[in-house]
Amino acid sequence: MAEVLSPKKKRSWKEVITESAVWRSFFRHGLPDNDLDRSLVITSNVFLHLHPVRVRKHGVRITYTFGLGGLSFFLYLVLGITGAILMLDYVPSTSRAYSDIVRIQSQVPFGGLLRNLHRWGAELMVLTVFLHFCRVFYTGAYKKPREFNWIVGIVAGFITLAFSYTGYLLPWDQLAYWGITVGANIASYAPLVGPYIQRLMLGGATVGQPALIRFYALHCFILPVVSAMVLAVHFWRIRKDGGISGPPPTTGEGEEA
Ligand code: HEM
Repeated sequence: MAEVLSPKKKRSWKEVITESAVWRSFFRHGLPDNDLDRSLVITSNVFLHLHPVRVRKHGVRITYTFGLGGLSFFLYLVLGITGAILMLDYVPSTSRAYSDIVRIQSQVPFGGLLRNLHRWGAELMVLTVFLHFCRVFYTGAYKKPREFNWIVGIVAGFITLAFSYTGYLLPWDQLAYWGITVGANIASYAPLVGPYIQRLMLGGATVGQPALIRFYALHCFILPVVSAMVLAVHFWRIRKDGGISGPPPTTGEGEEA
């Protein structure tokens, strides 16, 4: 006997969306209602799996880290986003750079806000990275097994300063021009290699177009790529070194795993 087919159930819009292949590709689990599902939701998502499975209590206590590394990274992201948008209206040419900056400030919609976010963010990031450095030193987090991450951190710190210095030339105003002239002259006094460093920095004897394009390439391409790699290693090491270091073991919660 032929099977009686039940009439096709009419699906709501919500069901059409949540049962579609596209939705299921992104959201692979329904709402989790047990521990196994909860951990699967985290581990099978590329962004959420960056979180550690466990965090020890002292690691989330604000007065231990003051969130300074996190704040530095937040500012790094703000600078990356605002910098990418600023690039749309800036040409690294000695005949245009300054007028482009003036135009961004005065005519581009939200240009003043963007530029101020980028400038203030940069100043703040140097401060938060320095304070983070002090916190790490104060809590002795540079000791074994974190000595490698301490070195990685120092590299990240120098990259932050290099971002700051290379960005300084880009507005091509008097402050930028003389700031870089003085900096390059100081570098030229280094024993033996000084004049070579100065030439490498400026691409010539004085601050001009070759220097501007070098600083632009460093600021907008080379340093972002290198810093992304260095920070990836920095965060990976935090996880591999057993999470955030703890208070001295006498308190009972700081022993390393
Ligand atoms: C771009 C700059 C940097 C960023 C974005 C960054 C980010 C972070 C973050 C998010 C953490 C974990 C939470 C926290 O401590 O707040 C951390 C931990 C750490 N950072 Fe940095 N950091 C930077 C620069 C530095 C510098 C300059 C040093 C030292 C020279 C350093 C050394 C360390 C060490 C040793 C840890 C592990 C701390 C612990 O286990 O208690 N970092 N960093």
